[in-house]
Amino acid sequence: MEICIVGTGYVGLVTGACLAEIGHRVVCVDDDREKIAILNQGELPIFEPGLDGLVTRNRQEGRLSFTTDLKEGIGAATVIFICVGTPPLEDGDADLSAVEQVVRRIGELSSAYKLVVEKSTVPVQTGMWIEKTLKVYKGDQDARFDVASNPEFLREGSAIEDFLHPDRIVVGVEHSLAERLLRELYEPILNRAFTCPIHRRCGEAGPIPFLVTDIKSAELIKHASNSFLATKISFINSVADLCELVGADVELVAKGMGLDRRIGRAFLNAGLGFGGFCFPKDLQAFVKIAEKCGYDFRLLQEVDRINQSRISQAIRKLKDQLWILKDKVIGIWGLAFKPDTDDVRYSPALELSKRLLAEGVAVKAYDPKAMEKARRQLPSLVCCRDPYEAASGADALVVATEWKEFAGLDLTRVKTLMRRPVLLDGRNLFDRQKIKAMGFEYLGMGR
Ligand code: UDX
Repeated sequence: MEICIVGTGYVGLVTGACLAEIGHRVVCVDDDREKIAILNQGELPIFEPGLDGLVTRNRQEGRLSFTTDLKEGIGAATVIFICVGTPPLEDGDADLSAVEQVVRRIGELSSAYKLVVEKSTVPVQTGMWIEKTLKVYKGDQDARFDVASNPEFLREGSAIEDFLHPDRIVVGVEHSLAERLLRELYEPILNRAFTCPIHRRCGEAGPIPFLVTDIKSAELIKHASNSFLATKISFINSVADLCELVGADVELVAKGMGLDRRIGRAFLNAGLGFGGFCFPKDLQAFVKIAEKCGYDFRLLQEVDRINQSRISQAIRKLKDQLWILKDKVIGIWGLAFKPDTDDVRYSPALELSKRLLAEGVAVKAYDPKAMEKARRQLPSLVCCRDPYEAASGADALVVATEWKEFAGLDLTRVKTLMRRPVLLDGRNLFDRQKIKAMGFEYLGMGR
């Protein structure tokens, strides 16, 4: 099918590349000239494992192209995905101005049938507004529109796998034509009828659930899913605080809980809490939408409060160990909001670094991928070439993002490099007993 993707951020680029990969012809549009220029030079403006190969191959095979011209982009397309950013406003509401502007222009520029699909995470009832806007700005009497919600559940660092091997595909539609088009569009994924470019594994059992709902329910599935995952994280972080008070180990508690199929082990990792461009803003947007619709979502307000407290918790631990922080040297391993990404937006690791700098600490940081983006946000950060340099001369070392490479480092060497062997394991990455046996003053999160 002929597809147009509007917005070439994490969601737009992954969606475009994966839809091309399964055989569609995709034009990606962005009004950011620099971003489109980078993409047309065969580079990527973001790091996402496997994405560069996928984009390069599909571009070369003529199924994927990039342009700043929206009219060109939507020209031949039957389905248009809205993948523009919906950042938070001051009051926590989602900023939908980019969505409204694109929809207005689609209305003006279209001269045939178009299925407009909201992929970006948008507040419930946005679909209704999109329908109204398309009608008001319709430029050609032959233009006809349907609107659908098709929320993405991509995690940064595993976005391609999550797209090509989803747990489910959710589509919110009002008419059967829209449903038929989206079923056709996703058919190769639903029947696993393609060679997976990453894992070459495709033999998994059975077709993938294709859930068809009304638009509002689909919009709510996205917000409710993200908020529930965030709730799981704040729950285990609260249990972690209790574990410290009673002398239990939250890792073992999480393990025991997770063996219950109704709970599941995933998203029960205690630590510095959740960041990224999704959970924090989706949580606030969901609370805001609920409030507007007349529901006071106090549970989620508490989830947010608990999450906000994690950084203060970490700093308190360092003060309890080091007494005075001012003029100390503290090494930080990891700045991205999670491993396998270069994204530092709402990163707990970056927030911790900022707070330590404000305490007069000399912060030396290393991250395998996010140094560049972190440096732009925190110029006073000392950026190190490798984790050993970040540890040398440090009075304490913080594991802020659980990159796999940190688990394999020579900790004996690290200990000799440090002025004092204090290790704050912000993501419970290490084996506590082993580290203590090596002579480190080990500080865990909930253990
Ligand atoms: C999330 C959702 O998982 C995804 O479905 C949605 O489409 C977008 O938002 P993402 O934000 O990319 O994906 O990463 P995720 O792996 O969910 O991690 C989010 C944050 O939670 C990270 O800061 C991570 O460190 C933190 N986290 C995750 C925990 O603190 N504990 C956990 O157990 C899991």
